Amino acid sequence: MTIFSNQSLKGQHALITGATGGIGYQTALLLSEMGAKVTITGRRQKQLDELKEAILDKNEQSKVFVYRADLKSSEERNQLIQASSNENGFISLLINSAGIFGGDTVEELTKEQLEDVMDLNYTVPVLLSQQVYEDMKERKRGNIVNVSSLSGLRGTYGGTAYCGSKFALIGFTQSFALEAIKHGVRVNAVCPGYVETDMGREAIQNKADRENLSYKEQYEIASKELPSGRITSPEEVANTIAFLLTDAASNIIGESVKISGGSVMR
Ligand SMILES: NC(=O)c1ccc[n+]([C@@H]2O[C@H](COP(=O)([O-])OP(=O)(O)OC[C@H]3O[C@@H](n4cnc5c(N)ncnc54)[C@H](OP(=O)(O)O)[C@@H]3O)[C@@H](O)[C@H]2O)c1
Repeated sequence: MTIFSNQSLKGQHALITGATGGIGYQTALLLSEMGAKVTITGRRQKQLDELKEAILDKNEQSKVFVYRADLKSSEERNQLIQASSNENGFISLLINSAGIFGGDTVEELTKEQLEDVMDLNYTVPVLLSQQVYEDMKERKRGNIVNVSSLSGLRGTYGGTAYCGSKFALIGFTQSFALEAIKHGVRVNAVCPGYVETDMGREAIQNKADRENLSYKEQYEIASKELPSGRITSPEEVANTIAFLLTDAASNIIGESVKISGGSVMR
């Protein structure tokens, strides 16, 4: 079976949230190369337009629909689902990649920070999944990948909000997977460690500030701590998501697939 051919997701429509960010961007490029029609969404129009151009540069026949939305707004989420379905048809693949880093130590954490992180990283993927699931259930096919994190598997210093949201996303993935597979819908999560994106850089910078180190020093420490000796690229996360979306992963259900450079083994 060829997993990553330009036919492997032919006829499918993938909705990718967080497409303006590092992981979502690479995922949208790859899924489109695999033959899927893609809907790309985020709040930054310029990045969405650039991604559309990059997709069409690779193959001008690609079907790519751009929809700018703030996913915290239920109205904008509804419009996104409606507009993308009108444009590209039944949403058979959902990739919940939009997310924010943030929060603080328990002493410093504010209610606003906590609600903000939980809302976008947990509540929004649940509500979006609910919305696309109705059609998936009816058609008895569909595939959802939630982008969680190694922070969804073990706590980190100052991680009450972020880890809490990513643990919750794994709890949702596992519970929903049990319901959905009865209707032919697969649900899984991916759990990367540091990834070379804006968010990954922000996380490394935060740690550097705490340790009184420069970004470069902290980056080198973070890389050397990994058995592989290097931080994950967004392309590697996209590859894992894409694999889970193919039939090659047909009996992988409710998993939390780690991309940890060997740092977490269990
Ligand atoms: N990078 C890492 O080290 C790492 C590690 C483990 C897990 N992850 C997870 O991977 C996912 C993708 O992160 P990334 O590394 O690609 O980070 P990123 O480059 O910072 O991208 C974050 C994405 O989330 C979107 N977003 C944020 N707030 C939004 C809102 N209110 N409405 C709609 N979209 C919103 C951003 O789009 P706009 O700004 O355009 O709205 C952007 O596309 C996240 O869930 C993150 O928690 C990242």
